[in-house]
Amino acid sequence: MDANGLEGVVVADTALSDVDGERGRLVIRGHDVEALALAHDFEAVCALLWSGALPGAAAHAALRAALGRGRVHAFARLGSLGDALAAADAMDALRAALAHLRAGEIAAAWARRHAGQASVAPDPSLGHAADFLRMAGAHADAGALPAGTYRSARMPALDARAQALDAYLVAAADHGMNASTFTARVVASTHSDAVSAVVAALGALKGPLHGGAPGPVLEMLDAIGTPDRAASWIAGELAAGRRIMGMGHRVYRVRDPRAAVLERAVERLRAAAGPGLAGTRLELARAVEAVAVASLGERRPERRLAANVEFYTAVILDAVGLPPALFSATFAVARVAGWLAHIDEQLAGGRLIRPASRYVGPRPTQAAAVPA
Ligand code: COA
Repeated sequence: MDANGLEGVVVADTALSDVDGERGRLVIRGHDVEALALAHDFEAVCALLWSGALPGAAAHAALRAALGRGRVHAFARLGSLGDALAAADAMDALRAALAHLRAGEIAAAWARRHAGQASVAPDPSLGHAADFLRMAGAHADAGALPAGTYRSARMPALDARAQALDAYLVAAADHGMNASTFTARVVASTHSDAVSAVVAALGALKGPLHGGAPGPVLEMLDAIGTPDRAASWIAGELAAGRRIMGMGHRVYRVRDPRAAVLERAVERLRAAAGPGLAGTRLELARAVEAVAVASLGERRPERRLAANVEFYTAVILDAVGLPPALFSATFAVARVAGWLAHIDEQLAGGRLIRPASRYVGPRPTQAAAVPA
């Protein structure tokens, strides 16, 4: 067997999430992702992942308050990291600062400082999604912000955008044994600390084959511009031997169910906002997806390639007003919920993860001489 990439190898028992790649189904602790993402906020799904059940009103309020306190605490410590954060790329800043802090407020503060603006202090009375948008500066008065920082000219109200971002955060919170989650579990299995496991996971998430794709997806949509140009653009990319970002998946052989969740959340946002740029990008994305699926299918009929979560991640994060440079870091804000649940699960019942390798190099021709 070719061991390259550990495809199909089971490395852990988990009660957290299950990915059915043939039927395009994602179950998180007994719930379909569609049911969770369109009806619950990020706090509720954090509680589900961390404690095993959707929270009642009191538990939800307690977790929301705890996350709010966490944001305030982290923000207070952020100042000591100085302006060095602003110079880095968002994922590098997140990785450096995470050693001391938490993800949401670092990513948001990075966006502000990178745009040459003062950081916005957290408001612990808000939900995680709304406060993240507020701190990142994805304001309704986008006209007051530097050109190019925010994509959508017409910004729907914060509540509607927070609801859309919640749908994204929930849809991206956990996803079986993906590369970053596996990384977190490997580090946790050595009984290292949780921060080290999360920082290592972030490094895996950063790569373009995992969490680094949504920025390039938006660049692709921008480069294509109008649906009629999709076919020639995609053909050119494939002829040049490049991959189409947001297409294909290690496990799914059909369309990623999270793509449909995000599509629906953008439709809901568009209904709240009225026609605007969010709607325009959705139509373009749908047209490009159809062309990409058809072109990839013609090229390799035996390898079924369809849209993955990153394709519509680009559309929804753009629609809520976040800049592309913050897309991967926003993925980390969501996935840290799953990483923490997996770290706990690994510590509760897992052994040291220490797989084997097959040696294919040369062997010594003689038995080793043992020095006298
Ligand atoms: N565009 C063009 N061809 C693709 C492709 C894509 N997005 N995804 C896979 N393929 C092709 C590969 O070129 C390969 O063909 P080859 O054998 O002729 O080289 C074949 O499909 C199998 O690809 P492979 O790399 O073995 O699949 P994988 O399971 O290792 O990769 C991904 C899965 C997600 C890394 C891959 O589909 C990809 O690179 N997608 C684009 C990046 C992306 O969207 N990442 C976000 C993932 S959520």
